[in-house]
Amino acid sequence: MRILLTGCKGQVGSALARAVAPLGDLSACDRHGLDLLELQSIRSTVANVKPDIIINAAAYTAVDRAEREKDLAYAVNVEAVKELAREANSINALLIHFSTDYVFDGEKPTPYLETDAPNPMSVYGCSKLEGERAVAASGCRYFIFRTSWVYGPTGRNFMHAILAAAKTKPELRVVDDQRGAPTSSEAIAGAVAQVVASPGLSRKASGLYHLSAGGETTWHGFATAILQSKGLKILVTAIRSDEYPVAARRPTNSLLDNSKIGATFGIALPDWRQGMAAVIAAIH
Ligand SMILES: NC(=O)c1ccc[n+]([C@@H]2O[C@H](COP(=O)([O-])OP(=O)(O)OC[C@H]3O[C@@H](n4cnc5c(N)ncnc54)[C@H](OP(=O)(O)O)[C@@H]3O)[C@@H](O)[C@H]2O)c1
Repeated sequence: MRILLTGCKGQVGSALARAVAPLGDLSACDRHGLDLLELQSIRSTVANVKPDIIINAAAYTAVDRAEREKDLAYAVNVEAVKELAREANSINALLIHFSTDYVFDGEKPTPYLETDAPNPMSVYGCSKLEGERAVAASGCRYFIFRTSWVYGPTGRNFMHAILAAAKTKPELRVVDDQRGAPTSSEAIAGAVAQVVASPGLSRKASGLYHLSAGGETTWHGFATAILQSKGLKILVTAIRSDEYPVAARRPTNSLLDNSKIGATFGIALPDWRQGMAAVIAAIH
């Protein structure tokens, strides 16, 4: 089985490069190996690799910057995704793609199902939703995994931001009115590897799946847990979202219901605290 992986230096991409390498002949590309802004490179890379599975872990993920870089966000999250899906369809490859809780407006009080109507509130969320729709409309075989609040041992993420801030500030002020499930890149990659290795994969119907860690917290709860697990005694003050102005609006409720992936693939990611402990141990 030949696997083409894009974005292999990102949080999810780097974890995937490790997790799927034992499952087949892996061609892992970072931005220099395959720049998704160059549609011709997508075509030539697919023609060279002839993958059975394309895993697209590349994305424009700068949520706030996307508010002023709409064209760039759409070029990576929509136009390139359309091209990957078109190529996948032309060679009958399976496309595995990722999306986000930010396709929702967060108004629902309970966890979101795949069948709930999206209503993104940011350019990033809109671009990811349009990317999802382009994959579904392409006719290729696909799995789209929507995940949330991703962090990992490497990369720019909330965990590293909190640990860095704790070195210089006596007090941290962290938003406490957004609920979600912090999901480690390692847990996502492990689940995707399980899907890729699952028997009868070629007979599984295309679909959209929610894939996030178990349990729930807020950004304040996550920050507190990160600092506690490192034994750092720093005051973490809970604030409202409107006390921390950012360019892009976030959903108040980012929780995803993961029943469908459980029923289809028997996958249930561990509670977010367990994922966090594993990542904290990895960065010691
Ligand atoms: N991060 C989150 O909290 C979160 C939450 C929900 C869903 N997701 C989704 O999960 C997936 C993986 O996200 P992640 O957290 O792993 O993101 P990430 O760490 O930002 O990685 C994205 C990767 O895409 C690469 N990339 C960007 N533009 C590219 C281009 N034109 N050509 C080739 N590569 C390009 C980046 O390369 P450079 O480093 O060179 O820019 C980076 O390595 C994405 O689909 C994202 O939308 C993420």
